[in-house]
Amino acid sequence: MNAGEALTPGVGTSETVPVLDEDWVRAQFPILSETVRGVPLVYLDNAATTQKPQSVLDALARYYASQNANIHRGVYQLSQEATQAYEDARGKVATFLNAAESAEIIFTRNATEGINLVAQTFGRSTVSTGDEVVISTMEHHSNIVPWQLLCEEKGARLRVVPISDAGELMLDEFESLIGPRTKLVSIVHMSNSLGTVNPVRRVVELAHTHDVPVLVDGSQAAYHMPVDVQAIGCDFYVVTGHKLYGPTGIGALYGRRQLLDAMPPYQGGGDMISSVTFERTTYNEVPHKFEAGTPHIAGAIGLGAAVDFIDGVGFGAIAAHERRLLEYATAALLEVPGLRLIGTAREKASILSFVLDDVHAHDIGTIVDTEGVAIRTGHHCTQPVMDRFGVPATARASLAMYNTASEIDRLVAALSKVREVFG
Ligand SMILES: Cc1ncc(COP(=O)(O)O)c(C=O)c1O
Repeated sequence: MNAGEALTPGVGTSETVPVLDEDWVRAQFPILSETVRGVPLVYLDNAATTQKPQSVLDALARYYASQNANIHRGVYQLSQEATQAYEDARGKVATFLNAAESAEIIFTRNATEGINLVAQTFGRSTVSTGDEVVISTMEHHSNIVPWQLLCEEKGARLRVVPISDAGELMLDEFESLIGPRTKLVSIVHMSNSLGTVNPVRRVVELAHTHDVPVLVDGSQAAYHMPVDVQAIGCDFYVVTGHKLYGPTGIGALYGRRQLLDAMPPYQGGGDMISSVTFERTTYNEVPHKFEAGTPHIAGAIGLGAAVDFIDGVGFGAIAAHERRLLEYATAALLEVPGLRLIGTAREKASILSFVLDDVHAHDIGTIVDTEGVAIRTGHHCTQPVMDRFGVPATARASLAMYNTASEIDRLVAALSKVREVFG
């Protein structure tokens, strides 16, 4: 395929694979028309955060311009409208993840807060001295540190499932790590530094045969592929709005109703209570029990608009487009002399982590930036992954629905500049 050729020209559905209208999609994202250093921006740091479509920007502006009021409190119409818009957004996220009911969706600040919420409520009330929590080598720091804090407090032990040279989860090892002391498994759906897509359904199946609940970190997966929490069978699932083409400061935790009902509250304050006296406080129903204080109302509404936008484009078209782009980019990068990909799992999506001979990743990032290409360099908040592969850092290009083959060509051309500078 040539760069000039649209990956998925036209609109609608080809015989079997739905196609993505690249020009239309790109036109929805105002920032993609920006220039950097006099050249069009090539944004390839989507694993860190994605850009926002106009419909999300409009939803945020509309809320503040015409709907702004505090929610769940006022009897006046504006407050009721704002409450409705906030709760509608919860319903949209519930449908997006295929939760059984809206009450299973708790709005959080981000994925990190969702994981901390589970650690501090479910974790603190279930884990005791000598118990174990199982995670994997490829976790983001957000899915390591909350469990370390819990284990330190409780005298419990963190067990870590190793990964192969390709960056795949070692399922046999996983099975052997689950035992009578395991209280929770917390595992990433898609790795942010390797691109590996884990067999989460199988992980849940194995854990559940031992009655061990599973949290899945869907921060990366949820904007590349459809997520069905009931089909996965997980007990908790976290997403983060700013990677889902939505606003920053908003995320969501899915939890199975039965578990949420039994869990103690996370933070105390307004809205999470049913009644308060100095002698005794009773708590509100889920999800409100876990949403103390005024929430990020605009953020939730913006997230609702973001999942509407994703649904409008459709995961069939998004996944097919990104899969072809990943194949194109993988082949193109492997032509670059001295480049080695880190993360070559059979099941992989939209992430290309690489090292280049003796050139430090930060130098790669700085030089390609001079050509208007934004990629991420560093440990990507996954230091244990860097240790596993014996590298201090990688350069990472990560794809989203609006990226194109010609942008990959710009990255490859920028990498030849790196080669020129470093000989
Ligand atoms: C796999 C994974 N988990 C968790 C997070 C944390 O997301 P947030 O910082 O939005 O909470 C990220 C962010 O990069 C991630 O990629």
